[in-house]
Amino acid sequence: MTDRVRGRARLDGRLIALGVTGSIAAYKAVELLRLLAAEGADVVVLLSPSAARFVGPLTFEALSRHPVETELMELLPDGRIGHIVIADTADAVVVAPATAHWLGAMANGLAGDVVTAACLATSAPVIVAPAMDGDMWTHPATQSNVARLRDAFGYAIVAPESGPLASGQSGIGRLAELPAIVEAVVARLSGTAVRQPDAAARPPLAPTAPRDADLTGRHVVVTAGGTREPIDPVRFIGNRSTGKMGVAIAEAALNRGARVTLIAADVSVALPEDRARVVRVETTGELRGALLDALFGGAGSPATARFDALVMAAAVSDFAPVRPAGRKLVRSEGLNLELEATPDLLAEVARIAHGLDAAGDETRAPVAPRPFLVGFAAETGSLDRAADKLRAKGVDLLVANDVAEAGSGFGTDTNRVVILSAYGASEGLPLLPKREVADRLLDRVAAALDARDAAGQTAGMQEVSR
Ligand code: CTP
Repeated sequence: MTDRVRGRARLDGRLIALGVTGSIAAYKAVELLRLLAAEGADVVVLLSPSAARFVGPLTFEALSRHPVETELMELLPDGRIGHIVIADTADAVVVAPATAHWLGAMANGLAGDVVTAACLATSAPVIVAPAMDGDMWTHPATQSNVARLRDAFGYAIVAPESGPLASGQSGIGRLAELPAIVEAVVARLSGTAVRQPDAAARPPLAPTAPRDADLTGRHVVVTAGGTREPIDPVRFIGNRSTGKMGVAIAEAALNRGARVTLIAADVSVALPEDRARVVRVETTGELRGALLDALFGGAGSPATARFDALVMAAAVSDFAPVRPAGRKLVRSEGLNLELEATPDLLAEVARIAHGLDAAGDETRAPVAPRPFLVGFAAETGSLDRAADKLRAKGVDLLVANDVAEAGSGFGTDTNRVVILSAYGASEGLPLLPKREVADRLLDRVAAALDARDAAGQTAGMQEVSR
């Protein structure tokens, strides 16, 4: 397993500003962006006007999910100055390819485009990968500009390589191999802390790319919020869940054409009551009843699934008082609470769906068509238990997050998750708005349901042709 697969990529949590200037090698910056993102980096792109003539901002925006900075004078929608926000929050600025013109402008502090302006304004390390014609590279002007960037400014220079050039000639001037540029970034940042983990302070994300209606005809059941277990008619055992993640999933599924049942425990956000079937519950017992009803038409008749996917985002209370008091308890009498563990609802649903009894033995056929099950795992400090949880609960995907991390977990608008699959894959996503986490999760759910149906049709065809 690579570090990336384990969700511990070398640029995890970093914001990397990629400055692209007007060389024919600008197209290679697209692949560089992908390599940086594959190392876990959140990448934001600055494009000089001449670079934009080689590769349009839309390509970079689609891949980076941030609006691309092209105009010095243009403000972000929230009034902030884009290249200054980038300069103040990026862990590193990578200029690749850097043209001879850009090297000259930068060496002289001429901030005429967003890339030079961001470099002038930042205290982050700058990594420069020049690309140009061979004679331009060896010209004393270029060489002295490069020396100034390296020696006076402390920039890391990833020197161009020898090979065929755009002019048709051969010489030194080709943009360095992309992995060498990535290594230079990793080396510059090793041992340093993430500069700005707060997503709100970083450059904004592009308005979410609208997804296709790829869940049309699907019934998606989502649970959200925290359950409450009464101690007496006034008090309860609860948790910090606000329901933001679950409601974001329900809304994203609705926008992709799904029929949604949202089973909401205690939530502090508005529910899409006009578009989804919303069932309100309070306790784990009520959640269990509502869940089995929505999924299988009740506890006693689980032969067919009435749903295509379940996303269990609710924070289910793990303990409940054994004997909740019927009247308000009085302080002077003191209190010893006896608690019992609640049933694991997700594991129970998975057992029913897979045709297993409580002991894990196959007692009947799995429900068909096979529903797709997603669990969440709120952990603190380490996600090491997540893989065991996925297996123990028998789900297809488990979305794990460290709720103790800044910007992640209860009540925040962002989340940083690792998505583990029953097939052993694990993918760490960068810090993202919860709605984007929801859509990336549903990308996988939609694809899995399509694959399920395609496999089902093939099986059906084999049946007919036998
Ligand atoms: N879950 C559930 N029933 C419970 C507890 C949790 O269905 N009684 C579900 C949650 O909705 C979530 C997943 O199981 O999708 C994991 O929840 P989590 O609280 O992380 O795990 P637990 O099973 O409660 O294990 P632990 O408390 O030991 O971390």
